[in-house]
Amino acid sequence: LCVEVFKIEEVLEQADYLYESGETEKLYQLLTQYKESEDAELLWRLARASRDVAQLSGTSEEEKKFLVYEALEYAKRALEKNESSREAHKWYAICIGDVGDYEGIKAKIANAYIIKEHFEKAIELNPKDATSIHLMGIWCYTVAEMPWYQRRIAKVLFATPPSSTYEEALGYFHRAEQVDPNFYSKNLLLLGKTYLKLHNKKFAAFWLTKAKDYPVHTEEDKQIQTEAAQLLTGFSDKN
Ligand SMILES: *[C@@H]1O[C@H](CO)[C@@H](O)[C@H](O)[C@H]1NC(C)=O
Repeated sequence: LCVEVFKIEEVLEQADYLYESGETEKLYQLLTQYKESEDAELLWRLARASRDVAQLSGTSEEEKKFLVYEALEYAKRALEKNESSREAHKWYAICIGDVGDYEGIKAKIANAYIIKEHFEKAIELNPKDATSIHLMGIWCYTVAEMPWYQRRIAKVLFATPPSSTYEEALGYFHRAEQVDPNFYSKNLLLLGKTYLKLHNKKFAAFWLTKAKDYPVHTEEDKQIQTEAAQLLTGFSDKN
């Protein structure tokens, strides 16, 4: 048993090194060798790696679908193995969101409740987890933005359809920023976008400028920067 534990520790260390270095495919190859593992720590990392490979530009649509469902399986198993693992709750919620792209509107709405529950649990287990707080904000923003026809379907199908407001979303984005200032370009962008929804141009401009000036480290940062810049030109024209 001791040998086994020691080995898992080593694999996790190697996995975290590969993750930090952005070696997405190598990380996936390493962790899939241990996919029968019962270790929650290993399984949520495998879930994360599967969805990261799914998101690579070189991944075909067919592979992507396979990986996204595979990721959900791993996340689910991680949670089964350890109900107190905040990372397992977080990645389970994220993975359910991903498969939503392949499911009908009914499943998507049903999943919205489950996603919320697991993000809340992740935050409860770690109130300093800025990413989970941010994702909860995204959840609120998405639900607040839900088009009328989806809202109508939700009302027909469920006694209490998911509901939220931009104010609630804003609360989470601010809280994430408090916990870990400047941790993520997208949180800055969403602060700006939420203020736009609330017709507060002054605060919107403040956060969008921060998003635009955020140092670019990833492909996503670059997309965020472009979107922030576009939104800023958009409303300087109107003034
Ligand atoms: C479950 O996860 C928590 C939080 O990461 C950890 O403290 C605990 O030791 C884990 N339990 C087991 C049985 O691995």
